[in-house]
Amino acid sequence: MTTADVPEVLALERTLFPQDAWPESFFRDELAHAEPAEAPHRASRRYWVAEDAGSGTQRPGIIAYAGMMCVLPLADVQTLAVAPAAQGRGLGTRLLGLIEAESRRRGAEDLLLEVRADNPAAQRLYLRCGFEQIHQRPRYYPDGGEALIMRKHLQDPPPSSAANLR
Ligand SMILES: CC(C)(COP(=O)(O)OP(=O)(O)OC[C@H]1O[C@@H](n2cnc3c(N)ncnc32)[C@H](O)[C@@H]1OP(=O)(O)O)[C@@H](O)C(=O)NCCC(=O)NCCS
Repeated sequence: MTTADVPEVLALERTLFPQDAWPESFFRDELAHAEPAEAPHRASRRYWVAEDAGSGTQRPGIIAYAGMMCVLPLADVQTLAVAPAAQGRGLGTRLLGLIEAESRRRGAEDLLLEVRADNPAAQRLYLRCGFEQIHQRPRYYPDGGEALIMRKHLQDPPPSSAANLR
């Protein structure tokens, strides 16, 4: 995702998160952290978009986006969203896989996320991908909605059977 993508992403954001859409400034701030001009090797964020193929004279359009933050030892799913017409085809799973792979590459021990308690479709995706619920936060969202905090261990400690015995 680049700043040029923000208007299209914002339109999707407002459709997909009617109660708690991020304002434009959030996306711009996040992207600034994805490429801090003064230290690109220390970028704490990474964002992706998925585009459809376009057709004839129609240029490709953004159908999904995702972002992560990594400040070791933890990584966070900042956002994950797929346009309604593109849902149920595996895109959400693929984007979550990218976030997990990037988190592992950076050496994160755990990958965390927040999901609305009243969003069972997203929770199913996360459970299927190996996340477990570790906390609940009542009244977390601006409309009073509850958040579930979920976690996936990326570096499980070695099994005790691997210990050196002497
Ligand atoms: C949650 C969300 C990201 C999931 O994205 P998605 O692309 O639909 O996810 P997937 O297609 O990978 O998986 C969804 C379901 O489609 C099924 N699926 C995956 N690939 C498929 C395929 N090729 N054909 C048909 N179904 C498929 C999966 O089995 C899964 O089923 P499940 O409901 O039993 O888990 C999407 O619904 C969304 O953007 N929702 C609104 C915003 C949101 O809630 N974001 C999460 C905030 S925490």
